[in-house]
Amino acid sequence: MNFQFYNPTRLVFGAGKLAGLGAIASAYGKKALLVTGGGSVRRSGALDRAVASLKDAGVDVVECSGIEPNPRITSVRRGAGIAREERCDLVIALGGGSTMDASKVIAAAALYDGDPWDLIAHGQAGWAPPTRALPTIMVPTLAATGSEMNWGAVISDDETKVKSFVQAECLYPKVALVDPELTLTVPQDQTAYGVCDLITHVTEGYFNGAGGTPVQDRFAEGVILTAMEWGPRAVADGSDLEARAQVQWASIVALNGWVQAGARAAGFPVHMIEHALSGHHDVTHGAGLAVVNPAWMRFAAKAHPERFVQFAERVFGLAAQGPDDLDCALAGIDRFEAFLTSIGCPTRLSQLGIDDALFAQYAEDAALVARDAEGNLASRPPMSKDDIIGVLRSAL
Ligand code: NZQ
Ligand code: ZN
Repeated sequence: MNFQFYNPTRLVFGAGKLAGLGAIASAYGKKALLVTGGGSVRRSGALDRAVASLKDAGVDVVECSGIEPNPRITSVRRGAGIAREERCDLVIALGGGSTMDASKVIAAAALYDGDPWDLIAHGQAGWAPPTRALPTIMVPTLAATGSEMNWGAVISDDETKVKSFVQAECLYPKVALVDPELTLTVPQDQTAYGVCDLITHVTEGYFNGAGGTPVQDRFAEGVILTAMEWGPRAVADGSDLEARAQVQWASIVALNGWVQAGARAAGFPVHMIEHALSGHHDVTHGAGLAVVNPAWMRFAAKAHPERFVQFAERVFGLAAQGPDDLDCALAGIDRFEAFLTSIGCPTRLSQLGIDDALFAQYAEDAALVARDAEGNLASRPPMSKDDIIGVLRSAL
């Protein structure tokens, strides 16, 4: 193993922590752009409580509402414009992953002279990775992406239908203020999609990793088992605060870099393929992953069954005939898919209303950024465009 680990985000976690937002924010700025989504935080009362806490601490608030799921670059442009006009010195996200991702890029775009789409890597020649950003505080209201404690953001372009991402050191939030009470109102389907998303963050590193990482393997399996234990409880009873808290902590650990440290993952192919689907069809990210992940696993297991055998044995308690027992590997994937179905996730493209008409385009888009020297999608094993189409066809 040969690696670095770095994550500068302060994590403040616990029920009721929203009340402390103002005190925390006042250490970073005097005038905050408060970014929210389509209205859930207004309906739940979280917005009023956040604003009251900020004002009590002497932090002025400028609101930027209406960030849509699969956030658009147009929303980023609008938010950055407000931040500049109002001379905000801090950006606070109160919402799901979409609101958090948009907020991160707004914070960078507010200090960038060009068009914000330059900041997102989407295969362009002159990618301008963000080098500075206003300080940000993330207050997640949905357990899924882990964006609150990582350096990534995923943004879509309405015109080209390209959905892509950026990772930059300046995008690490200063603080992740995580209050599981805020997730009590998340609907059942979004709760399930969040569980799928967090598990997929872990499986990407686990199955695409180079191996030789026994500690990371156990961490990954621990996150998956925890999500499979507590996720169904949160789905069954959205008011179960303990279940909400366990799922939310799992979602943060799943993508703050810790579980993947040293794994040398070849890529995040399931995410790249899903982003192509949600770029074109605006499907919910976690729902798209539930369709793509088992299909991708069956493709990859045939190339290197050992990791999938380990998964089948350790996560589902199956007994293998040997380390290359493909039948056992595939049985583990079947069990995983059955789990996704049991919590209400789709597992076929037809359930998302997607047919094969644009398969070649998805294959092109999936490999837009994360491609190797031969033009294949970064993955273990690398995926040609035909491989991507084959995986999608198997998920019809
Ligand atoms: O917009 P509002 O009204 O807030 O409603 C949202 C939205 O309709 C609703 N919601 C959120 N919190 C709620 C709530 N409804 C009731 N009560 C609450 N407490 O849920 C819906 C989905 O919200 P969204 O933010 O889109 O969901 P999620 O957190 O799953 O974020 C998905 C986005 O994150 C990206 C995805 O690609 C997608 O664009 N990702 C970001 C990552 C990152 N930055 O590290 C990694 C992920 O892999 C992912 O790609
Ligand atoms: Zn994800």
